[in-house]
Amino acid sequence: MRTAIVTGAAMGNGYGAALKLCEKGCAVMLFDMSEEVFATEEKLKAMGYEAKGFLCNITDKVSVEKAVDEVVKLYGGVDILVNNAGVARLAEFEDTDDELLDFHLNVNIKGTWNVTKAVVPYMRQKGWGRVVIMSSVTGSMVCDKGYSAYAITKAGLLGLMRSLAREYAEYGITVNAVCPGFILTPNVRRSAARTSPDAPEKVLDGIAAGVPMKRLGTPEEVGALCAFLASDEAGYITGTSNVIDGGNLIPETNVMGV
Ligand SMILES: NC(=O)c1ccc[n+]([C@@H]2O[C@H](COP(=O)([O-])OP(=O)(O)OC[C@H]3O[C@@H](n4cnc5c(N)ncnc54)[C@H](O)[C@@H]3O)[C@@H](O)[C@H]2O)c1
Repeated sequence: MRTAIVTGAAMGNGYGAALKLCEKGCAVMLFDMSEEVFATEEKLKAMGYEAKGFLCNITDKVSVEKAVDEVVKLYGGVDILVNNAGVARLAEFEDTDDELLDFHLNVNIKGTWNVTKAVVPYMRQKGWGRVVIMSSVTGSMVCDKGYSAYAITKAGLLGLMRSLAREYAEYGITVNAVCPGFILTPNVRRSAARTSPDAPEKVLDGIAAGVPMKRLGTPEEVGALCAFLASDEAGYITGTSNVIDGGNLIPETNVMGV
């Protein structure tokens, strides 16, 4: 049985990845700073899966090392890491202060760095490992207004992904990125409610109308891609960015409905 760590696993894309890894027979360690992680643990266990919640803020190196140590004590190592935890707070560039910039850099970049650093030595010992990094199409390929702080981090993660893929290829460790478009997660629901407190569903419908597939993606669809990249079958895939966006990057024109 493979042991997997998924960060930000209490909800959203992290939950999707945890569920799909459980379905593939992994023991899944759910790292999250929210107490909700324990409800997620119970939900997965009730489905008959092996899952364990850890209260862990990925920006806190000590908390990360402690949680990873505990996983290694319990399961003898870590085979799979899905670096999913991330934050997105929109603000126009001139309203993005240092605090907001650092918030994104600390969680999205340094958090991913901390967990990967704590886990990769165990993968190298085994000569097998899978690291999946949750980037985004935002920043790495496209961008809307208000994403400057978030966009840097998601583009930066692709640089980290490629450099780790190169460095660890000879140790049987693959490192790949997942780049989602619009996915219906609690974070996207919260953003829609901030944009239009009275009619958040209208905002979501508007987003869906602009996507060629006319809907947002689901966390389970993102999770399935993560679980594939973490599988034995994906053993010769490394250093890649994998878009999952319902065709949203395709259109050549931006005229709605064309
Ligand atoms: N939802 C989308 O449309 C979308 C699109 C592209 C990329 N992504 C990426 O997917 C990932 C997950 O996004 P989501 O929409 O599911 O978010 P979400 O807010 O719905 O869930 C994020 C989870 O991460 C946890 N988390 C946040 N900061 C943490 C920290 N410092 N330490 C530990 N846990 C932490 C939260 O508690 C929460 O459980 C992010 O990296 C995000 O950038 C999402």
